[in-house]
Amino acid sequence: MDSDYEKKTAAAKSLDWIKEGMLVGLGSGSTAAHMIRGLGEKVAAGLSIKGVPSSDTTAQLAREAGIPLITLEEAGKLDVNIDGADEFDANLQLIKGGGGALLREKIVAYNSKFNIVISDSSKQVERLGKFKLPLETIPFATKNIITELDEMGLSPELRKKGDEIYKTDEQNYIVDVDVLEQNDLVALNNILINIPGVVETGLFLDTTDVIIMGKDEGTVIFK
Ligand code: 5RP
Repeated sequence: MDSDYEKKTAAAKSLDWIKEGMLVGLGSGSTAAHMIRGLGEKVAAGLSIKGVPSSDTTAQLAREAGIPLITLEEAGKLDVNIDGADEFDANLQLIKGGGGALLREKIVAYNSKFNIVISDSSKQVERLGKFKLPLETIPFATKNIITELDEMGLSPELRKKGDEIYKTDEQNYIVDVDVLEQNDLVALNNILINIPGVVETGLFLDTTDVIIMGKDEGTVIFK
């Protein structure tokens, strides 16, 4: 089945969780974009909600879809957050950040009472790590961080966009590392996040309540 069709089906299903008056975290990426367009249609039909976008691209898309936006500061805690993922396993652990929005995505997820992940079936894995783990890093420290990650055997790669270094919405860099051979991702995450200059990692551990996966014509729900 076409992965975009599965993304769209998962995104449509996630809208069942959205109720009148809710404050909604708006994820980033192509799967979240389907959800945002669907949510925009509901708003046009009279649903009253407010959204907090997890990236500048999502903010733009949400405005175009007619979704009223507020800042995280104005929202405080969000009722529900809906976002995509690059990989997920049977324990609802994720790798995110393929689109470079991991920092704000993790902040929005942390500040949400309920987190829904929407995905096509290609993202389901037995073991996380086929997808490189993104780390958001402060430019000042990035070269030294790369040296350290290299010494740890994580094959770090500075993310590029064409010939330029990729920059996040927060004007940081992304370093992608290979974690496929790592047996204890919780321990690794603790080491990585404690390197000064690493702002955030794309490991979303114990943040997800429900995963809605598009599969063939329908959806499969993991809790
Ligand atoms: C962006 C993300 C996205 O959720 C992730 O990359 C999935 O993207 P897509 O829905 O386009 O497959 O983490 O930082």
